Amino acid sequence: MGLLQLHARTMSRLVATTILLCLWVNSGHCQQNPGFASPVASVDTIVGQPAILRCTVKNRGDARLSWVKNSIPVSMGNDILLADKNRMSLINTGRQYDLHITKTVLEDEGTYTCVIYFSSGYNSSSGDLTILVPPTVQSMTVNGQEVGQKVVVEEGTDTLFNCTATGKPVPNVIWKKLGKHGSVFFQNSTVLMSNVSRTASGRYSCLASNNVSPTHNRVVDFEVHYVPTVTPRRSEVMAVLRGRTSLKCDVDALPAATQLDWYKDNRKISLGRRYESTGGTTGTLVLELADVRDGDFGEYICRIRNSVALREASITLYEVATLPPTTPGYAELDVGSGHRLSCTCITVLWMILVTLILQ
Ligand SMILES: *[C@@H]1O[C@H](CO)[C@@H](O)[C@H](O)[C@H]1NC(C)=O
Ligand SMILES: *[C@@H]1O[C@H](CO)[C@@H](O)[C@H](O)[C@H]1NC(C)=O
Ligand SMILES: *[C@@H]1O[C@H](CO)[C@@H](O)[C@H](O)[C@H]1NC(C)=O
Ligand SMILES: *[C@@H]1O[C@H](CO)[C@@H](O)[C@H](O)[C@H]1NC(C)=O
Repeated sequence: MGLLQLHARTMSRLVATTILLCLWVNSGHCQQNPGFASPVASVDTIVGQPAILRCTVKNRGDARLSWVKNSIPVSMGNDILLADKNRMSLINTGRQYDLHITKTVLEDEGTYTCVIYFSSGYNSSSGDLTILVPPTVQSMTVNGQEVGQKVVVEEGTDTLFNCTATGKPVPNVIWKKLGKHGSVFFQNSTVLMSNVSRTASGRYSCLASNNVSPTHNRVVDFEVHYVPTVTPRRSEVMAVLRGRTSLKCDVDALPAATQLDWYKDNRKISLGRRYESTGGTTGTLVLELADVRDGDFGEYICRIRNSVALREASITLYEVATLPPTTPGYAELDVGSGHRLSCTCITVLWMILVTLILQ
């Protein structure tokens, strides 16, 4: 019983103290200081876009409010204090004291502090404004030379692709080779191709990304030039007097050949010469001989030249016995005295045979 009474007495004393305290507070001696309903939040924005720094105050009373950036005052009450003030405005109503920036520039980045000044002191809360910048490919070099839409190197050289980009945060830069059947990625801003081969030719793209839209890329057409190749279709060709035949050299050249010629005894032949392109870098250089004469037999040179080098190959035209004139290209020969020779053997053997029989 005694314990209960004691408890009740303690309780009533506590209630009395609380009421007294409240009266004292309300009398103005102990007003609750203004504070922040929520701390100032950090803001990320893309350069050129607007940003809003929010300051939400509680128990505002007649407190004065101010924004400070990196310890330089930006605003006081309703006034913007910076020289460059037309990009900034304030929403100063009730609980809000918000700083609006219409078109952010890089220099706006910093720590923004909302300060509440009241009679007995001040309080502050800070947030960071971060200005993001989308990536931009800044330079694209091959072997240290800035490249345009196209770059040319010679086969067998060492080739260094390098690409740099700007942006905030620092962009990730990679190269990729674009292909008809998908792309090949190089996970680096520099790509070294040692002893570059002609198969490396193609369209390359440098890609920069930093999670700020949009990503940026630049392309370059990469062309590996090489010493032309020239290969006789057959290095020995048989023909009959007054017959017709053709000599052929297969050609592969990049850049395209500027000279594709036939020579015999150091003299250029233009009659019957033609070039049949097979598309891309390849084709066939042809010499048509419509009516083979005595002087036509011998060694022919097909010679091609591009800006890298000159290359040639030789074809020898041999004479075989006369064919019946109505059957050009006939595969059997009449060697006289009723014998016929079938052309299924190797040409050289055949020639020896013909020579022996004719003697
Ligand atoms: C400042 O405001 C915060 C949030 O309202 C509060 O917690 C803190 O006690 C205040 N500081 C001062 C010195 O008034
Ligand atoms: C790539 O280019 C940048 C900018 O020009 C340069 O600083 C860097 O050293 C180059 N990288 C290589 C591997 O050459
Ligand atoms: C990119 O290339 C440089 C120079 O060749 C090399 O040091 C670096 O390790 C490479 N980075 C990656 C991710 O492969
Ligand atoms: C370069 O590549 C070619 C063709 O792939 C090869 O024949 C040659 O030996 C290579 N040269 C060097 C120095 O590696």
